[in-house]
Amino acid sequence: MVVTPWEVSGAIDYEKLIQQFGTQPLTQELLERIKKHTGKLHIQLRRRLFFSHRDLDWILDQYEAGQRFVLYTGRGPSGPVHIGHLVPWIFTKHLQDKFNAKLYFQMTDDEKFLIHPEFTLEKTAGFTYENTLDLIAVGLDPEKTKVISDVKDIKLLYEIAIKAAKHVTFSTVKAVFGFEDSSNIGIIFFPAIQAAPCFIESALTGENVPCLIPAAIDQDPYWRVTRDVAPKIGYYKPAQIHCKFLPGLGKGGKMSASMPETCIFTVDTPEQAEKKIWNAFTGGKPTVKEQKKTGGTPSVCTIYQYFYYLFEEDDKEMVEIDKRCKTGDIICGDCKELLAERVKRFLKEHQRKREKAKDTIDKFFIK
Ligand code: TYM
Repeated sequence: MVVTPWEVSGAIDYEKLIQQFGTQPLTQELLERIKKHTGKLHIQLRRRLFFSHRDLDWILDQYEAGQRFVLYTGRGPSGPVHIGHLVPWIFTKHLQDKFNAKLYFQMTDDEKFLIHPEFTLEKTAGFTYENTLDLIAVGLDPEKTKVISDVKDIKLLYEIAIKAAKHVTFSTVKAVFGFEDSSNIGIIFFPAIQAAPCFIESALTGENVPCLIPAAIDQDPYWRVTRDVAPKIGYYKPAQIHCKFLPGLGKGGKMSASMPETCIFTVDTPEQAEKKIWNAFTGGKPTVKEQKKTGGTPSVCTIYQYFYYLFEEDDKEMVEIDKRCKTGDIICGDCKELLAERVKRFLKEHQRKREKAKDTIDKFFIK
């Protein structure tokens, strides 16, 4: 398995990742502590889509002692947003609401420009605008959310970034990110830019404010480097809460824009989304007759996972789907039809909010 900010491949073993990356599992005890502040646990916690963390217990200690914290997450604007990207953003909105927390959201238009040889800055600026509409559609509070474009807002980041960069050697970023002598020097410096928003609130207010980062586990290498640097430049180490990857609709692998046929984009038409769902890999048998006799295998089915992680909130209903699939009472066509309906409904609503976001987008950008 390979999990880096730029490549996720192979069969992902999340237990092993916790060991390899040196993070902590999200224990039942910690979930109970979160519940005290949020009420019923969010679906992404209940279903263990978020599964690992660093220092989340410390963030809660601070919060319980009356100390506020800020949230930080982001997006590399390299194309349209897919529903996998929405996973950490939906959860971030939940945390913003429940903990009344300010959010810094970084659009790494520089990273994507530096990584893709054919990209222009105009192109990443266009995606920054489009992707911000998706972010707003998730329902974040304009009063408590600031979207940072690295290219436009570099003045805000640069001082912190060079303070961090001074403590990170080329050999460290080579080892952590796999950079080579042939990597361009922009991308070699970039980890310092992604580190900077962890400390913006502290730098702007002069008060040391803890920071919590909700994101998928692929971004963790950045935080390893950032956490080493933080005390050296006078700030708290940023805490993280990591999610798994929403799978694509094919056999294995995360949802990724590089495989558009197995990926549901937020701007897909109902017909496009429906077609992808009908072509999805399932845990079904080769024939309907066989499936009715011996049942399907929900544990390998992408459709089942979409219900589980996003599109069926009711825990009892989920148990029912599992049972009916295994006994052959429902077949793949039934599940695909139901999921297609829900996804189309979701996209219609998301696209309506996305359109509306054009009226408020200026409120979200740093002035
Ligand atoms: P990017 O654009 O690759 O991904 C944006 C966010 O989506 C998460 N993600 C997924 N989550 C669940 N299922 C998936 N299939 C899936 N694919 C991607 C990513 O983990 C990320 O949280 N360099 C970053 C941008 C960035 C950032 C940050 C991200 C800057 N600062 C702070 C998180 C936190 C990037 O290119 O993300």
